[in-house]
Amino acid sequence: MTQALLKPITLHDLELNNRVIMAPMTRSRANNEGNVPTELMATYYRQRAGAGLIISEGSQISKQAVGYVNTPGIYSKEQVEGWKQITEAVHEEGGKIFLQLWHVGRMSHPDFHDGELPVAPSAINPNDKSFTPQGFKDTVAPRALTIPEIKQIVQDFKNAAQNAIEAGFDGVEIHASNGYLLHQFFASTSNTRTDVYGGSIENRARILFEVIDAIKEVVATEKVGVRLNPSLNGIFGMTLNEDTIPTFDYIVENLNKYDLAYLHLSEPFNDVSDLPHAEPHIAKRYRPMYNGNLIINAGFTQEKGNKVIEAGDADMVAFGVPFIANPDLPERFEQDAELQQPDKDTFYTPGAKGYIDYPSLAEVEA
Ligand SMILES: Cc1cc2nc3c(=O)[nH]c(=O)nc-3n(C[C@H](O)[C@H](O)[C@H](O)COP(=O)(O)O)c2cc1C
Repeated sequence: MTQALLKPITLHDLELNNRVIMAPMTRSRANNEGNVPTELMATYYRQRAGAGLIISEGSQISKQAVGYVNTPGIYSKEQVEGWKQITEAVHEEGGKIFLQLWHVGRMSHPDFHDGELPVAPSAINPNDKSFTPQGFKDTVAPRALTIPEIKQIVQDFKNAAQNAIEAGFDGVEIHASNGYLLHQFFASTSNTRTDVYGGSIENRARILFEVIDAIKEVVATEKVGVRLNPSLNGIFGMTLNEDTIPTFDYIVENLNKYDLAYLHLSEPFNDVSDLPHAEPHIAKRYRPMYNGNLIINAGFTQEKGNKVIEAGDADMVAFGVPFIANPDLPERFEQDAELQQPDKDTFYTPGAKGYIDYPSLAEVEA
């Protein structure tokens, strides 16, 4: 019998060969002046084209959106040209690939902005670290965005989505997760604005829907996914409070109004079962609330992944770390083969080491 993870699925017109999704992962290999995607990256993604769908690493939508060294952008002509070699490589292997649209907001550092402050909904320091060209540095209190600047960011998301389609991507994923800009708007711990972007749940969620509405003018919503991490706590400057889950309930319910490619949710990244305001079971809570295709992520194994689909709690499973050291992950699931372990020291280092040198099963056997 075919494993649940290995059954094909159709996202509107897009036919995926299996439900093993490659989660977006920053690998910091665009180590050149313009943060242009490289040939090395094309090799890396080509090796992983057996995934039902690859979601690319976060790609900054503007110069202002960056927060980590050597991450690729999607705002310049050169970057669009660079990404083309990646989408072509994945398509040549019969794979599908979405680009993740990223604005880090306050999870950045003045070193990326000629000494100017990073931007965010409010001037509240996430008290975390930023990975700058000179190594890890403490984050600072950002500068609160003006309304015209927020409107510009919405346009930047739209332009970046259009660029992604021009670069040959099958769709885009809006990164509204993991403590980055859109998540900073959702959370009342990072958003204390008193205008239409702060205060009520509707106001704190507003920017996401403006981004989707703007993107929709240039890319059909059937090619747009949204990523959320509702129970994120103590990581990337995020802190749960009594507003958190009602806010995500509102967002998920309202995403039903759009015919999205999918909603991509993460289970809690750490143990939140004893915390008062956390939802420890994300798929179980949101599956009944969301009408479209659901991807679930974080900490899944082959066994757990098959189970969550069989139980009807998700349609697809995104695997992050397992894809780093196992380029042919679906093939390994098919064969019930052992998984290779990744080298954490090379997650973000430039070059081929720990990036494109993990062998496939076929290469190991040969
Ligand atoms: C090296 C690395 C880089 C990551 N970069 C991103 C990213 O760019 N965008 C994103 O949404 N999540 C990112 N994540 C989170 C993963 O998408 C995923 O949520 C996480 O690894 C948990 O899934 P897993 O247990 O299957 O690895 C990253 C994770 C790792 C390990």
